[in-house]
Amino acid sequence: MHLLTNNTMLDSWRDVAGPCVLVPTMGALHEGHASLIRQGAALAHQNNISGGCLVSIFVNPTQFNDPADLARYPRTLEADSAICQAAGAAAIYAPHADDIYPPGLAIETPPLPAVATEPGLEDAHRPGHFAGVCQVVLRLFHLVNPHTAIFGEKDWQQLQVLTAMTAGLELPIQIVPGPTVREADGLAMSSRNRFLSPDDRRRGLSLSRALAAANRQAMPDEAEREMSRTLKEAGAEIDYAVVRPASSLRKSAWPPVASDTRWRALIAARIGSVRLIDNAPWHS
Ligand code: PAF
Repeated sequence: MHLLTNNTMLDSWRDVAGPCVLVPTMGALHEGHASLIRQGAALAHQNNISGGCLVSIFVNPTQFNDPADLARYPRTLEADSAICQAAGAAAIYAPHADDIYPPGLAIETPPLPAVATEPGLEDAHRPGHFAGVCQVVLRLFHLVNPHTAIFGEKDWQQLQVLTAMTAGLELPIQIVPGPTVREADGLAMSSRNRFLSPDDRRRGLSLSRALAAANRQAMPDEAEREMSRTLKEAGAEIDYAVVRPASSLRKSAWPPVASDTRWRALIAARIGSVRLIDNAPWHS
């Protein structure tokens, strides 16, 4: 496995390796990322994508709306390399900030698709977040020029935003979703779980319980009430707990006009000092 720590190394690797499957990450890798990397390596193999799976590791400052969150974001390159190697990555691209944002060069932020501004979910609770995500992912796309990029379903709105951005800019890159990986007790894996105290970790299970409870309700408003009830019972501070059409995420009327609408239940809630997000298909 190659470790590429600047753009010159990336260019030389790409010249030899050819097209690749990109798994963009901010490091602090866990089993959820390992699963995306295995998926990327398998996809490259099946489709004769010669470069295999390239994992980018870059803690992108422009997507953090809370400086304290950026400051405490874990940086664990040595452990990350071991996970990439074991999961079958061909290379890691772990650039310095100057490689992504060269001093004196304005790095384009693309026009944001509606799903990045209209739903009132992550867009409302983390102002500027999707502008930063789109900026860094477009920059990575320009630098790496991947055949395919894989993004986890756990960040469901991000996945919709990046799919819409790529389609809107007519980039010749396939966006492939990767399923959420859960701990045995249902907690969705996240780099932030390490900050949960044992008690908060137990209370964090209320997110997956709420998603399951939502699926036992027949109507979206009942499902939303049930999710809020479950989360509040566990003492979670709710940012949102909603059921929305899975790709637009726009608040919409029930029953839906298009009968093939797929729905998603989505939650963001604070447990102690840690903000957790989770989502699941709703009745589909
Ligand atoms: O999902 C993440 O880890 C980040 O938002 C991403 C896509 C790597 C961009 O920094």
